[in-house]
Amino acid sequence: MKKIAVFASGFGSNFNAIQQAILNKELNAEIKLLVSDKPECLAIERAKHYNIDIFAFSAKKYNSKIDYETKILNLLNNYEIDLVVLAGYMKIIGHTLLKGFSGRIINIHPSLLPRYKGKDAIGQAIESRARITGVTIHYVNEELDSGEIIAQEVLDISKMSSREEIEENIHKIEHVLYPETIKKILED
Ligand code: GRF
Repeated sequence: MKKIAVFASGFGSNFNAIQQAILNKELNAEIKLLVSDKPECLAIERAKHYNIDIFAFSAKKYNSKIDYETKILNLLNNYEIDLVVLAGYMKIIGHTLLKGFSGRIINIHPSLLPRYKGKDAIGQAIESRARITGVTIHYVNEELDSGEIIAQEVLDISKMSSREEIEENIHKIEHVLYPETIKKILED
């Protein structure tokens, strides 16, 4: 069975959706490890609930990104991880992980890339009065939110009246699209 590591630093709803797809047998894989740079986040509580191993770290306690990424890379190798799934991880992936795990790291971003890269993509869409936005799943490379696109889904926001409504609908798409896309990648 394919082994996944999820990197999450926040609410962890995508982590949860992936684990639920596994439990429902829609996705034939196993989450072996949750990596988080926010030791207090809800994603960690969720991982505990599912008895999934956790590596939570505070970047401040390491001398450099190379140091903590080397530690993470060793864990990925020890757990024989096939795919790294970023789901709201708050650190930019550096060259230690990119080199060590080349072509096997994916991310989900709440916009139709290449539109609205970086932080608060939903806020950027609202600010620019976009009629549509959406969700992108892409491979991670050295440039932020710029790797090869794997899957996208459009969301019409022209009739939505609040940020909350847009967020809720973005999440609905993510929670289906991410497990489906992971399934396709692992089958290839
Ligand atoms: C998602 O909206 C994702 O697109 C972005 O971070 C958010 C994570 O949400 N990269 P959650 O922690 O999975 O609820």
